[in-house]
Amino acid sequence: MTNTETIEKKRSGRPPENLRNEIRIELPSSSVNEGIARSVSSVFVSQLDPTFEELSDIKCAVSEAVTNAIVHGYRDKRGIVYITIKILDERTVRIEVRDKGCGIDDIKTAMQPLYTTDPEGERSGMGFTVMESFMDRLTVVSKPGSGTKVTMVKTLGNPKRAFK
Ligand SMILES: Nc1ncnc2c1ncn2[C@@H]1O[C@H](COP(=O)(O)OP(=O)(O)OP(=O)(O)O)[C@@H](O)[C@H]1O
Ligand SMILES: [Mg+2]
Repeated sequence: MTNTETIEKKRSGRPPENLRNEIRIELPSSSVNEGIARSVSSVFVSQLDPTFEELSDIKCAVSEAVTNAIVHGYRDKRGIVYITIKILDERTVRIEVRDKGCGIDDIKTAMQPLYTTDPEGERSGMGFTVMESFMDRLTVVSKPGSGTKVTMVKTLGNPKRAFK
């Protein structure tokens, strides 16, 4: 069974499929790649001239999703984290972070603030809450035993004129 959960803020409509640019990255599930994913997404999204705040929101959201794929999805094995970033129009960014790890049984519960399955108590259970609050739309699709796909959309305040 595949589970899906979408959280969408009212002000963002579904963005048009108007692809302007795209990058696909595949990274092994090593913790060093959390920072690499963060940096690559920052460079790529910069072409839209985001504000400092918008850029740091996107970097944090990517970082949370990639960290989850590495520490939870691939908790007891190595695997590949698949990241796709699309510029959909002159100011919309859609980011997909996918793993082929253990999957999530109950997505609704997993997305609750402070919920964590970390046995060591190092995690605070706030990753999904960060993604949800920093982005306009968050969709989580997961199949236990097969993996998880997190899709996040953010529409920036100012359209990049060069893309109009
Ligand atoms: N890609 C994933 N694969 C499997 N389980 C996941 C994945 N992402 C999240 N989870 C599950 O959802 C729970 C909540 O994730 P969330 O990111 O909100 O908190 P956390 O990772 O536990 O803590 P924090 O992000 O604050 O360090 C995780 O503890 C884990 O059980
Ligand atoms: Mg997390």
